[in-house]
Amino acid sequence: MRFFIAINFNSETQSQLIGLQDELRARTERGRFTPEGNLHLTLAFLGECNSKEIRVAKLAADSIGFVPFAICIDRVGRFKRSGGDIWWAGVREDQQLSELQSRLTDKLITAGFELETRKYKPHITLGRDIRTDAAPWEFESFGEKVERIELIKSERIQGKLIYTPID
Ligand code: 2AM
Repeated sequence: MRFFIAINFNSETQSQLIGLQDELRARTERGRFTPEGNLHLTLAFLGECNSKEIRVAKLAADSIGFVPFAICIDRVGRFKRSGGDIWWAGVREDQQLSELQSRLTDKLITAGFELETRKYKPHITLGRDIRTDAAPWEFESFGEKVERIELIKSERIQGKLIYTPID
């Protein structure tokens, strides 16, 4: 099972994200769209974890401490891939978000995790393997206040990707 630390959204933000997905879907000939309950913003992807690593990651996520801040989702974009692109909702660059992400990453690396050190590009994946004639677009932003981050377990059950927050 794989784990990641992420921001989950309230139901209003989720419906707005679904609205974006619907706009994209209407122009898409082929692709796999993220199910509504799975839409999230990843802060750190941990990969496979043993039980000790799960405990350490949970402690890191719970103890990071931050002043609640607003995130703004303001565009739809893509990462180009040869078989079909990844389309996402983009989160506006924000100092509080990037500081949280880098403090968390530093903490996890200090605790022994090997994490990607590529520049963080905050995005909410809407779909993968997408072939569409849509072009990236911007819109009047929406968002919410972030008050907590979560450690999430990712597993495939009967072909479906199930994400479960760890309490
Ligand atoms: P993505 O949506 O851009 O693929 C769970 O897989 C979450 O961790 C996703 O948000 C995914 O981002 C992110 N992630 C980051 N690096 C990953 C990797 N190497 N493999 C799988 N997921 C990764």
